[in-house]
Amino acid sequence: MNKNKLKYIIKALFDAPISNKDFLVNREKELNHLNKIAYFQPMGIFGLCGETGVGKTTTLNFIDSEDAKRFHILITEKDSKEIIIGDFLYKLSILALKLKNKKINNIAKESKEFILNEMNYNTTYGGGLSFAANISYEKSVNNRKRFNIYSVKEYIDKLLSLLVEEYGKILIIIDELDKEKKEEVLNILDSLKNVLFKENIITFVSLPFSIYREYSNDRMRWNESGNLENIFKDMIFLDSLTIEDIKKMILKRIKEYPDYFDIEALNEIAVFSDGNPRDALWMAQQIALINSDIDRISKDIAKKSIGMIISQNIEKSFSFTKIQKIILKEIARNSLDKSTLVKKLEGKVKRQTVYTYIKRLMNDGIIIENKDILYLPAKIRYYIENF
Ligand SMILES: Nc1ncnc2c1ncn2[C@@H]1O[C@H](COP(=O)(O)OP(=O)(O)OP(=O)(O)O)[C@@H](O)[C@H]1O
Ligand SMILES: [Mg+2]
Repeated sequence: MNKNKLKYIIKALFDAPISNKDFLVNREKELNHLNKIAYFQPMGIFGLCGETGVGKTTTLNFIDSEDAKRFHILITEKDSKEIIIGDFLYKLSILALKLKNKKINNIAKESKEFILNEMNYNTTYGGGLSFAANISYEKSVNNRKRFNIYSVKEYIDKLLSLLVEEYGKILIIIDELDKEKKEEVLNILDSLKNVLFKENIITFVSLPFSIYREYSNDRMRWNESGNLENIFKDMIFLDSLTIEDIKKMILKRIKEYPDYFDIEALNEIAVFSDGNPRDALWMAQQIALINSDIDRISKDIAKKSIGMIISQNIEKSFSFTKIQKIILKEIARNSLDKSTLVKKLEGKVKRQTVYTYIKRLMNDGIIIENKDILYLPAKIRYYIENF
């Protein structure tokens, strides 16, 4: 294939959160809800949940903030509650310094210097020795210095009040919390909730699924001692996209070469991805790269390539025995519970063996159990069904 064409296709399929609405598929319902929150809610922390790669960052990018000022904050220093709050102030100050407002700039500058000084104080790395503020910042944070938490909170309060005064409404977006363990996330939010709970400040955070489940249980009073509803006022769950959406997403991206993938080839990619846009983009890119000599991807080529790519990836980590494959095939055919599975395999596999293998495969994430029913993740199912 022509080098420039391949270059275009690989770039178009590159996995990164989008901010151009032309490339967005679906999510009207979720965005509608998020926009209503941003517009109508007076204050509060709100969660966005979903499996990795499903589009949390992308969706957060499209929250309509016409009448609000948006701040993306990445919390990186998490050693203790004080450090988290200090980190929040530092990051907010950096963003506030870029605004064109003298009053805000002044407080931001003061806050930033305060954090840098407080954290340099008493550390073995003298502040004057480092030539870049960032270096001394990270070094000193690593020293786990306790600093005056009351002053930090006062600075945050001052800065946020000025921001609200200037812009009316503030959206704070704390993405990437979904990469943390549940306890860490709660720790971070617990430290921040008091400073963020302020009129006209709406905070959106991305969260791991475990928190969503617990939150729902709290709301429904199915948990003994609910506490998440104290932190979150509402939570939105992002489901996988549909197979049709995934195809649309890829076609929108490669619009200069809409025929590059046969429609059936696109379908294979979408089915493999099981509605996860990141998995779809990754696979589509891989197929284009390993077939760089081919001008157009047919269903057969797609299928063969997907098989090769998954096999390579799966077989690097696992090799299934004959019996394991029998078990996995049965689950792939039909999601079912353990005892039904044992019955189905009667005469083929011993009862105890089935139980032992299920346990082991569940530990490896090859089998998922939800409400007593066994499932295979899409990629494993695709592999087992086709190869
Ligand atoms: N609705 C959508 N329309 C078009 N492309 C999308 C959509 N949702 C996600 N994508 C694409 O899928 C990929 C993954 O999306 P994104 O990075 O937003 O997911 P995420 O849930 O934030 O992932 P992570 O768990 O890694 O933070 C990106 O390349 C993004 O452009
Ligand atoms: Mg993300």
